[in-house]
Amino acid sequence: MTTLLTQHPLKLVSVLVCVILVIGVLKRRKPRVHIPLMVSAFLIDLTMVIYLEVRRGVVESIPGREMTTLLIVHICLSTVVLILYGVQIATGLKNARGNRRPWHRKAAVAFLITRFGNLITSFLIT
Ligand code: HEM
Repeated sequence: MTTLLTQHPLKLVSVLVCVILVIGVLKRRKPRVHIPLMVSAFLIDLTMVIYLEVRRGVVESIPGREMTTLLIVHICLSTVVLILYGVQIATGLKNARGNRRPWHRKAAVAFLITRFGNLITSFLIT
């Protein structure tokens, strides 16, 4: 845990986001708890993406990297996660206004699989 905290602080933040997402889904019937948790997870993830781009230039570094299957899978998962955040926020806002969207639940499954896939592959990339 100490090694994770000192050497991989962003991975620890990513684990924290996944914990927030799991609690948020478990609290899906309580919008007053569910919405702030999901919005917080999104804002933390967005801050992490901006940090990685501004401080480490991850997108520009792609052409100079060895393109392993793992890295391609990780990039694809990360892109899908960002798109699905948009879907969840849009359908979630409609839910909150009383206009129930079946896609919120369906996309939630895909979102959670891809977000956890992103976490796992981030640990596997060296
Ligand atoms: C970002 C990831 C999110 C995931 C994985 C997620 C997941 C879920 C799931 C599985 C449900 C239950 C749906 C059902 O049983 O039909 C739900 C309900 C709901 N979600 Fe989300 N959600 C997310 C984000 C949001 C956001 C950003 C908002 C609002 C801005 C939101 C608002 C709602 C509302 C209002 C409900 C209905 C609660 C009720 O039963 O009264 N969600 N969400």
